[in-house]
Amino acid sequence: MEVVIVPDAAAGGALIAEAIATLVRRKPEALLGVATGSTPLPIYEALAAKVRAGAVDASRARICQLDEYVGLPAGHPESYRSVVLREVVEPLGLDESAFMGPDGTALDVPAACTAYDEALREAGGVDLQLLGIGTDGHIGFNEPCSSLASRTRIKTLTQQTREDNARFFDSPDEVPHHVITQGIGTILEARHLVLLATGEGKADAVAQAVEGPLAALVPASALQMHPHATVVVDEAAASKL
Ligand code: GLP
Repeated sequence: MEVVIVPDAAAGGALIAEAIATLVRRKPEALLGVATGSTPLPIYEALAAKVRAGAVDASRARICQLDEYVGLPAGHPESYRSVVLREVVEPLGLDESAFMGPDGTALDVPAACTAYDEALREAGGVDLQLLGIGTDGHIGFNEPCSSLASRTRIKTLTQQTREDNARFFDSPDEVPHHVITQGIGTILEARHLVLLATGEGKADAVAQAVEGPLAALVPASALQMHPHATVVVDEAAASKL
């Protein structure tokens, strides 16, 4: 695992955007796995700026989703599908055909999970998977004690994660209880994992993920097993390393 400490979130975003641009220049049809939350926004802004400036042609890139809420109506502005389309796909000038994600509106959720795992495989696998980290060390929506070999499946959110994500909804009660997430085993199949963490609130989780033991209690510690994992942290998130 490579740990890169940058001065601030903007520097982290710029660094990772350049890594993505390098990948897309080498492999124009690269499958880029994206994460939601506030942390990766500087990456998407920096990458979209490169596309607008003509520094990289991302017109053949493909985008796939890490996780999704279960039960939000199709088109809900906070479904992760809507978020990724709004924050990543559209700013990069791509259309929906470049995008794939799990179906959080499916009646048969386990079947939708299996179908998504298969779709990722059929698409040739994820070239670069972006990750954030939850304050409890989760990646995607793999909460503490998730199996390190898990596949895409339905999970129940912890109270902590529902509280952390309540800021995106009108009231905390609106945060769904259930989600679909790529499993830790699924995530580990990506060729390159890039985790960005910024701010003091992530310092404990980062220290446990990077320097603690490999443990299901800290899902992000699974990156220790990956042959090509990069953790980019600002000075505040690195403060407990
Ligand atoms: C959610 C997402 C994660 C993300 C986490 C942290 O739980 N499912 O993928 O890493 O939020 O979000 P933020 O970056 O806003 O702290």
